[in-house]
Amino acid sequence: MAKNLPVFVTGDRPTGKLHLGHLVGSLKKRVEMQNSGKYQSFIFIADMQALTDNAKNPEKIRKSVLEVALDYLSVGIDPEKSTIFIQSQVPELCELTVIYLNLVTVARLERNPTVKSEIKEKGFGESIPAGFLVYPVSQTADTTAFMANFIPTGEDQLPMTEQGREIVRSFNNIYGKVLVEAEPVLADSKDCYRLPGIDGKGKMSKSLGNAIYLSDDTQTVHDKVFDMYTDPEHIKVDMPGHVEGNVVFTYLDAFMKPEHIEKYLPNEGYKSLDDIKAHYRRGGLGDVKIKKFLFNILEEILSPIREKRKYYEAHIDEVIDILKKGCERARAVAQDTVKRVRSAMGIEYFSDDALINYYKTKFQQDD
Ligand code: TRP
Repeated sequence: MAKNLPVFVTGDRPTGKLHLGHLVGSLKKRVEMQNSGKYQSFIFIADMQALTDNAKNPEKIRKSVLEVALDYLSVGIDPEKSTIFIQSQVPELCELTVIYLNLVTVARLERNPTVKSEIKEKGFGESIPAGFLVYPVSQTADTTAFMANFIPTGEDQLPMTEQGREIVRSFNNIYGKVLVEAEPVLADSKDCYRLPGIDGKGKMSKSLGNAIYLSDDTQTVHDKVFDMYTDPEHIKVDMPGHVEGNVVFTYLDAFMKPEHIEKYLPNEGYKSLDDIKAHYRRGGLGDVKIKKFLFNILEEILSPIREKRKYYEAHIDEVIDILKKGCERARAVAQDTVKRVRSAMGIEYFSDDALINYYKTKFQQDD
């Protein structure tokens, strides 16, 4: 990894296995960036952040760390090209967090829209864990520790990257230009920003039980696709149907490529997804047919991921070794940043000749 390349940093909370929403929302983009060879990449498992709302459930987090690592490796995050590490194994991130905490106000944290909606969602009421409220600050430590220029991430993380840039500006204003402002990088298409769950009720998420996991087997994926919410008024094939809010079509928007039509729906006269949608709207196109189409597409995407996962599941020692090496590499970089941060702040007392001389002169003068 060439040292002068721009850096991207991103991570995921280990609260369970990763799903299709993660794949289109962020994993795909980071694999693409990794494989372009134009970046140094740091990709990490944010276990400390996961603990901010799971303090009483550490077992869940502990047991999910490896699951996420397996998901990373199986979607093509390559330890030869990216540094894969675990947040808690780089304690310098905690030090940076404490330093940055002085550069934000509680009011600003309370205004962060993502944190605000998460607080509601999680039902904290008046009992918001302090660590949870300030996780955007620790997230800024995660990225600045590696001098990130880019943060490939989901749309819901935009308020975090914005808050991070404010902290960087504030630090650089006070202590001199040490830190780098990072820009978020979103998925290429808006259709991929917020993939709904199979029930169509909200974003795909583990807690809502509406997710298709990257590690689901063929039968499970099949069952979930056939359970998908479509158009409740589309009772008979020849009746006109709605495409908006119809999860199958939302997924086709996110996953279908033109070549899939020729492969899985040949000889029907469709040239594009718009043709398929028009047919559904007109009537005459059944749910079973479009579900089968979507299932074939998802299987094409998921089977190589599954295959890779199988390899790593059978080689856990290798996975542990990848993580261990990644943590060491990440830590060395973060240590270097912390040194620069401390030095800019003037708290490296024992090597600060200017300060030592200041005292010497001061007391000699006072004599
Ligand atoms: N908040 C992210 C999530 O919910 C995880 C995360 C922690 C992260 N630190 C980060 C993402 C830094 C990007 C950059 O999964």
